[in-house]
Amino acid sequence: MVDTVAGIRDEVDAHRAAGRRVALVPTMGALHDGHLALVRRAREVADVVVVSIFVNPLQFGAGEDLDRYPRTLEADLAALGAHGVELVFAPSPDEMYPEGAVETRVTAGRIGELYEGASRPGHFDGMLTVVAKLFNIVRPDHAVFGQKDAQQVFLVRRMVRELDVPLAIEVVPTVREPDGLAMSSRNRYLEGDQRRAALLLSESLAAAEAVGAEGLDEVLAEAAAAFGDHDGVELDYLVVVDPDTFLPVGEEARGEALVLVAARVGSTRLIDNAVISLG
Ligand code: PAJ
Repeated sequence: MVDTVAGIRDEVDAHRAAGRRVALVPTMGALHDGHLALVRRAREVADVVVVSIFVNPLQFGAGEDLDRYPRTLEADLAALGAHGVELVFAPSPDEMYPEGAVETRVTAGRIGELYEGASRPGHFDGMLTVVAKLFNIVRPDHAVFGQKDAQQVFLVRRMVRELDVPLAIEVVPTVREPDGLAMSSRNRYLEGDQRRAALLLSESLAAAEAVGAEGLDEVLAEAAAAFGDHDGVELDYLVVVDPDTFLPVGEEARGEALVLVAARVGSTRLIDNAVISLG
């Protein structure tokens, strides 16, 4: 494990000098099989896999779960070792932000203020800023992200395109538990009945998918109905967006669309998404 910027640069430079292609998998740790699917994709596209583990304070708002976010470094290192990961970069907050706060930020623009961004003001600016830093520190040929965080993928792709970052983005489909729950580091907050209630997210997406042919209104109605009136579950947003613009689609929309859902189960915020075909 490497915990300094200079250290990871040296290690990666040595691989690059030897002509090896490098893939970066940015994470906040508390690794699960979803993260490991990203590692496997990284292995397919590059010779050297770098996984970063950093719970980025910049992307957490006041009152969010920065302090209680699970930190399981030893188990993470063991899992990554078993996957043959060459380099793990796990810096401290001081190493990433020596001055404490940062004055310079990447802004995610208007789409960064919608959906997740509406509920978590500043989240996507903080996320893009750390991702830009990680890209500049590691300088990978590929960076791997999960479709689980669809809005994050959209914004990272756009940053890479608009700021001419010289790397290729790879996206891996959402990895789910056998019953459909999207894997998430935050699932470990779920207690008792909440684990069952968390299934409402993937169930609402399945309901949306089933009626895609009937159009937007039916999709939204069925997906919302799947939530019913469940104690302890609060729907945050449910929206159908155009995958190319990330803006909400209109009733006339046809073809591929993306359903985004977020809900609070107890005090745990969960998100999920699925591609549907509007007919
Ligand atoms: P984190 O939530 O740890 O997720 C790291 C990566 O794993 C992200 O690309 C995320 O989309 C992917 N991932 C999480 N759960 C997944 C699942 N069930 N299936 C497939 N991929 C999954 O996302 C972040 O960290 C941070 O915002 C980060 C990009 C590291 C910047 O701080």
